[in-house]
Amino acid sequence: KAPLRIGLIGFGCVGQGLYDILQHLPGFGAEVRRIAVKNPAKPRSLPAEAFSFRADELLQDPELDVLVEVIDDAAEAFRLVSTALRQGRQVVTANKAMVARHLPELVALQHEFGGTLLYEAAVCGSIPVVRTLDAYFGQEPLRSVSGIFNGSSNYVLTRMGQDGSEYAVALAEAQQQGFAETDPSLDMAAFDPRSKLVILAAHAYGVLLEPEQVLNLGIENVSATDISYAAVAGQKIKVVAGLYLLPNHQLSVLVTPQFVDPTSALYTVDDEFNGVVIEAEFAGPQFLRGRGAGGHPTGSAVLSDIAALRNQQRYAYPKLTTATPLAYTTDLEIEI
Ligand code: HSE
Repeated sequence: KAPLRIGLIGFGCVGQGLYDILQHLPGFGAEVRRIAVKNPAKPRSLPAEAFSFRADELLQDPELDVLVEVIDDAAEAFRLVSTALRQGRQVVTANKAMVARHLPELVALQHEFGGTLLYEAAVCGSIPVVRTLDAYFGQEPLRSVSGIFNGSSNYVLTRMGQDGSEYAVALAEAQQQGFAETDPSLDMAAFDPRSKLVILAAHAYGVLLEPEQVLNLGIENVSATDISYAAVAGQKIKVVAGLYLLPNHQLSVLVTPQFVDPTSALYTVDDEFNGVVIEAEFAGPQFLRGRGAGGHPTGSAVLSDIAALRNQQRYAYPKLTTATPLAYTTDLEIEI
């Protein structure tokens, strides 16, 4: 069987991670045929000739089977991905801000033009949470989906708690290891986990939210004293993002720093790891834990989407409904 021909748009941490993984997996049956980057002159791990194409040229190339978009800029990512979907193409993205902002349009474009968009890498790095929720949804109601969705802020909290590191030092380490977004305030002020929560709301409950409808509080105001206070009380402080189905069938949606005690599965989630707890009506709690950031873990999630496309998989997309939030809950009555 001929290898799948991939057009890679972006060669940052995730793009390089995917490229490297494919070099290690010749049997996977896919090759990066063309790479487009914003600045071809920037020194990189491959010779400059590897970057002689522009993203728009990749969109025009009929010989590419799958387009992988892993750039930072959400507006440009939407332009590229929506153009590709209008051509009915197979597309993979890791851009959570873009997906969270444009999900209704992205779903509509897939319906209208027959292409497919997958974005497992956009939520919790290596953890296959979107796929897992898709498998759950429609089978049994979910009481909650919650967890630690941001590796960088979790890394900073862990370093401050375990080693007494200064906030700025721990943040610099997270940046140096490629966990943090280019603008680290997205991680530290919890905009990044907010985007991920918006995406999961659609897959878990069929609820389409605007990112601004979700309260997000990050760790900028969490001090070393707060962390030691928590430790004395046998707890850790974690940024927990959650969707909680309330007894009145409203959905509570928020991201905030919280005390987490040792009875919680999330207590074990340190460093750049992410964790997701899914509470299903009949199955009970499920816990997924894995690396939430970094080139190889996130590249591996992109790879899983490429494999899924090869098997003609697409997201189930439950009946999607828009919701208007009332404070921290939506006014939507979730049917169970
Ligand atoms: N900056 C993100 C994080 C990368 O720290 O979790 C993965 O989405």
